[in-house]
Amino acid sequence: MTTSRTLTIIKPDAFGAGKAGKIIAHLEQDGFQVVAARVMRLTTAQAGEFYAVHNGRPFYAELVEFMTSGDCMPMILEKASAVVALREAIGATDPAEAAAGTVRKLYAESKGRNAIHASDSDQNAARESRFFFAETDCIRG
Ligand code: CMP
Repeated sequence: MTTSRTLTIIKPDAFGAGKAGKIIAHLEQDGFQVVAARVMRLTTAQAGEFYAVHNGRPFYAELVEFMTSGDCMPMILEKASAVVALREAIGATDPAEAAAGTVRKLYAESKGRNAIHASDSDQNAARESRFFFAETDCIRG
């Protein structure tokens, strides 16, 4: 199977608690390769645009506030069927419902403060990757 790419973000709760190294090690152990990474603090405008699809939902303001509350770590990851594989590896949105051994079960606090984001389709992976990275930021880009 050919490799593909997806976009992840280690969110401010996990990054601020010093869990980035453990989460990256977990993902590498699972066969993902980091092909681009950065550390940044999202502005309100950036977080609002990134999560624009959720604008109007009851948790949108809380989500934007949380995502701008501290530094985060967007990364592009590569693996066979990367989008599906990463969503399996991180588990359900709510850590209380996440399967044992998933990133959110191990490292997330709550549905809102849930440690990590993963793109939900190849199309969104490409769009979200362009949000944070240029093609030349990626190894073998
Ligand atoms: P993420 O995978 O980054 O995509 C959208 C985010 O919205 C999701 O993770 C959660 O962090 C957040 N979210 C979804 N539902 C709720 C909710 N009911 N309350 C708070 N945050 C939520």
